[in-house]
Amino acid sequence: MATSSRWSLKQRLVVSFLVAIITGLNSPVNGCFTSIFCFGDSLTDTGNLLEISFSESGKLPHSAFPPNGRTFFHRPTGRYCDGRLVIDFVAEALGFEFLPPFYGSKNEKFEKGVNFAVSGATALNFTFLAERGIHKRSTNVSLEVELNNFNIYCNLFAHLLQLLRTSLIVVGEIGGNDYNYAFWQGKDTEKIRELVPLVVHDIASAINELIELGAATLLVPGNFPIGCSPSLLTQFQGSDKDNYDSLTGCLTWLNQFAQHHNDLLQKAIQILRTHHPNVGIIYVDYYNTAMRFYRSPEQFGFKETVKACCGVGGPYNYNPSRSCGYPPLKRCCNDPSSYISWDGEISLS
Ligand SMILES: *[C@@H]1O[C@H](CO)[C@@H](O)[C@H](O)[C@H]1NC(C)=O
Ligand SMILES: *[C@@H]1O[C@H](CO)[C@@H](O)[C@H](O)[C@H]1NC(C)=O
Repeated sequence: MATSSRWSLKQRLVVSFLVAIITGLNSPVNGCFTSIFCFGDSLTDTGNLLEISFSESGKLPHSAFPPNGRTFFHRPTGRYCDGRLVIDFVAEALGFEFLPPFYGSKNEKFEKGVNFAVSGATALNFTFLAERGIHKRSTNVSLEVELNNFNIYCNLFAHLLQLLRTSLIVVGEIGGNDYNYAFWQGKDTEKIRELVPLVVHDIASAINELIELGAATLLVPGNFPIGCSPSLLTQFQGSDKDNYDSLTGCLTWLNQFAQHHNDLLQKAIQILRTHHPNVGIIYVDYYNTAMRFYRSPEQFGFKETVKACCGVGGPYNYNPSRSCGYPPLKRCCNDPSSYISWDGEISLS
């Protein structure tokens, strides 16, 4: 689907990254989290879009089809990935089960937490983007909708709010799709850049709202180096060598765009920290973690950096109309663990 980016981050890569995150956490009272709640897009979606699409239109997203899921779950689960997402590794590392999707299981209590992230979700709402001529492709869900779902859920199960203090809350990655949709529609880059402070403002508002409800520990991932994603490399393919980083083959200006988002996000987090000195807000640096893979792929066991494993066509193995999981195309490389990108889309998984 046309969502954010997803790369098949391999376990061995993720481990060092997670250790860094988890040791940075402000542990709650007894040193253990009681539950995990998360918000975001396809990088974090463990089955929500699949459930929404199935119940609303009967039309299934690409994540419902093989070879998605082939490496770990051995069946499609609604994850845009062959294996586990970063959130799955976080849950495992903290001794939790994989987080269930919120949609499709509304009557459960989810004492251990639940996942509100929806593939294709944006930070800005549907109306706001539509007014700027940016049309969403797969879902109308925005961060605001995910928070509304959280509130609905809290109203159903009042005990949940008491859990918040001792929960790990993951907000993001979110916002990448706001830009992706605009880039795919060929919007002017300067116009897209104007969205960045608005996107960051919405993320910061969501964090603030969660803190006011009682959240005490939040992980906030930034954006990936989108200039390395097979989908955007395909879309902006050109002969001007100056646009590309000669070491990685990534598009420099797109990576700068992602860094701009991350800079503003970190500044917003810094302000939130001064307003809420007793709350742990941890920025998760997806960008530089991923750049290590692109700069020294062999060190992490990667052979292909900017080509998608699951996909077909062009120099990046990516064609938006024949993308991964879209029946009947089941073509996939033999060894997904040697490719940084699973399906070529922008985010990672
Ligand atoms: C969408 O977001 C804008 C800007 O944040 C806000 O003014 C508006 O009320 C929101 N619209 C809906 C329908 O939620
Ligand atoms: C999104 O909302 C618009 C306007 O309400 C509607 O026309 C469209 O069908 C919705 N799309 C999805 C995928 O739900």
